[in-house]
Formats: sequence, C-alpha cells, structure tokens
Amino acid sequence: MGQRFPSAFLFGAATAAYQVEGAVSEDGRKPSIWDVFAHSQGKTFQGHTGDKACDQYHRYHEDVRLLKELGLHSYRFSISWPRIFPEGKGKLNSKGMDYYRRLVEELLRHEITPLVTLYHWDLPYALENQGGWLQRDTMFYFAEYAQQVVREFAGTVHRFLTINEPSVVAYEGYLTGNHAPGHSDLLETVTVAHHLMAAHAYAVEAIRAVNRTVDIGIALNLSPVYPSDPEEQATAITHDRVINQFFLDAACKGRYPKEVLDVYGSVFDLSFLNAADLQTMARQQLNFLGVNYYFPTVVTAGLHPLLADVVPPREPLTDMGWSIDPNGLYDILMRIHKEYPLIPIYITENGAAFADQLDGEKVNDTQRIAFLQGHLQMCERALEQGVDLRGYYVWSLLDNFEWGFGYSKRFGIVYVDFATMRRIPKASAYWLRDFIVAHSTRE
Ligand code: NOJ
Repeated sequence: MGQRFPSAFLFGAATAAYQVEGAVSEDGRKPSIWDVFAHSQGKTFQGHTGDKACDQYHRYHEDVRLLKELGLHSYRFSISWPRIFPEGKGKLNSKGMDYYRRLVEELLRHEITPLVTLYHWDLPYALENQGGWLQRDTMFYFAEYAQQVVREFAGTVHRFLTINEPSVVAYEGYLTGNHAPGHSDLLETVTVAHHLMAAHAYAVEAIRAVNRTVDIGIALNLSPVYPSDPEEQATAITHDRVINQFFLDAACKGRYPKEVLDVYGSVFDLSFLNAADLQTMARQQLNFLGVNYYFPTVVTAGLHPLLADVVPPREPLTDMGWSIDPNGLYDILMRIHKEYPLIPIYITENGAAFADQLDGEKVNDTQRIAFLQGHLQMCERALEQGVDLRGYYVWSLLDNFEWGFGYSKRFGIVYVDFATMRRIPKASAYWLRDFIVAHSTRE
C-alpha cells in the first residue's frame, strides 16, 4: 500500500458532550433540551438518558490515554453550551469552562490536536423556554457563546466547528420529532434550518472579531442522492437540493439555491429570511468543511411537494439499518471538490453501529474493520483525484448515548461496559491504529 495520505493528514476520533460526558448537574451545569427530552416519557429507547453516559467528565484522563495508545492525532469533542452558560447567556460559568480547559490541556500534553464543536444539539433549556431555534435571539446568543469560548481557548484550540448537522437538528427536531425538542411542523423545520445557517454565519463573524487566526468550519451530514431508476434523475436532483445543496451552498457560498427557495416560497411565507441574516451569510468565509458521511439516499418520485420518497436501504446494513456504501463517500467528496473547489475538507464523522459482543476481554468487530477499511480506501482514492481532504474522524471513540436509541447502538471503536464504565478497545481500534502507522507520514 502506498503513502497516499499527506503528512499533515489528521486521523482522529469524535464524540459529543451529551453523548459521553454525564455529570449533567455538576459544577453549575443546567439542563439542555436533550436532558428534558430524554427524561420525557417514551422519547428514547427504554427511557435511556445521558445522565451518566460514558462518564467522560470524570474519566477524560483515561479517554485521552486511549486516544494516545491508539495513535490518533486528533480528538473531536463538543462543548456543552449549558455548562458554559447555564442560562444560555449572561455570565460565564467558570467551573464549566475549567472542565474543557483541563481536557484541552490533557490533549495537548499528549500531542493530540483538539477539534471543538460548539453546538452538538444540547441547546440550554432556558433558551428553549424562550422559543429556542425558532426565536431569532437564539442565533445571537449562540454567536456570543461561540465568541466567548474561542476567546477562552486563545492559543490552545485552533480549529472549531460551529454547528453539527444543522439539517438533522431541523428535520429530526422539528419535522419527525425524533429529536429534541420533538416538534412536527414543516414551516418550523425550514425556519430553524435558516436560523441555524444564519447563526453559523453570525458566529463566524463574532469569532473573527476576536480571533482572526482560528480555523472555522461547520459539520454537515451529507448523503449522495441516487435515483432508484435512471429515468428518475430529476427527482434525485430535486431531493438533493433540499437535503444537501441547501446547506452546502449556505455554508460554502453564503446563499441558498434559488430552486429550493422557489419551492419553499410556493408553500409558505418566507419572511423568516431576514435581510441582515442573508447579508451576513453572504459575507462569511469558511476555512474548511466538515463532512459527516454514513449512507447514501436512493429516491423515487412521490406525492410530497418538497421531498421524494426514499426507497428502503440496500444490503449490507449496519445495526442502524443504514446501507454500507463506501462509494457514496467518494461521490460526495468528488462533488464537493467540483462544486466548491477551494474549500478544504475534513471527514468529521464516519463509522457504523454493530451489535458488538464482549467475548472475554475482546470484541471482535470484523464488520466495523471492513467498514472502516472500505471508507478509508475511498479517502485515498479521493486524495489521488486531487481532493483537498485534510483529515478523517471515526464516529465514535466510545460506545455512547445514541440519541433516541439510547445505549442500544454501539458506534465505538472502544467498547464501553456501561455497568462499570470499563473501556475495552475493540479489534477495530487496533486495526485503525495499525492502519495509521502504515499510512501516516505525520511526525
Ligand atoms: C451524527 C451525529 O452527529 C452523532 O451525534 C451521532 O451519534 C452519529 N451521527 C450516529 O448516528
């Protein structure tokens, strides 16, 4: 195998605060929308919550050591907004900030580069009470919070993601209701999608005002859209515009695709598209794009005015029922390279859940190894084609709280025994370590 990964290429692992930290009422943290949602009847698998999660709040030393032992160069984690601003705004809670300072120090001591996500779905509940992401003020509070965190980390953290998967926040939170805050309304969904993309743009400006050198990106969940039948190419293009291009154009070009606005405009009043938001979006510049890739989408024409019908996923499937298709990653990388040529890319998430079993002291997750191998091969192929791919983060370092699925889905390269909180690296973790040794030319 050749050395096709550039020497600065970062291999990393990702997590998010509510999914791994636990310690939900320690050191002044107040609830987020996910605490409230998970504690509501019937919202998560068997009523699971993130109250304890992986207890990373108390075990971060051990997790950093694991990252080091596995030869990972970088750790992507998120900051819990309600730890820093328990009310969402106002006075900074220094005890909450201290936790992240200690975590970053520990990472740097082990020469692991932090990649910090500012919003991975845990909106302070105090802000939800004032309307949450439907309310314009939330965007400005987000920008203030983002600015403050970047200021606190001056000199130690150089790379930030503003928002993780805005489309999932909008669609799962406001259309399917599977995620917090659990609404089901299409106008709300589109309004929130816009508020998130505008909040991102306001945050970029607020960050730039205090620090011109940090790299800022956003993590988009992208899924290449294929027609179920070659005759349905047009259906696939329309669907793609809504689920991918809307967010890609907003992030990388600072505007929304006209075709999508035309369709939305024929269904609702677009007065939520405030002129100042659009101007701010148009001004902003992204340093890099984060791509979360899991599976492709195959569609056929349906009755819905905006979205096509998604056909059932093709086998092989992961434990989430998602089809395994490394080619989809290659396609999405090539598409970004073609349509947004100047923007460096990081794969900020890629991975799979399987029904892993602890066998003595071992977890032999051969399916995950095949999954990672297939997708990393596509990274190499894309690099050969000249794609400016700078890093790959596996989701996830640890088995963790998989939102509505609770702890029933295991995405980790490290197994977590939730009764004891013991961490046991799976075979895939050792496989990845060896892959990095064989392919990385990083000093
Ligand atoms: C994307 C999300 O960012 C992450 O929180 C989630 O656990 C993974 N996908 C797997 O579903």
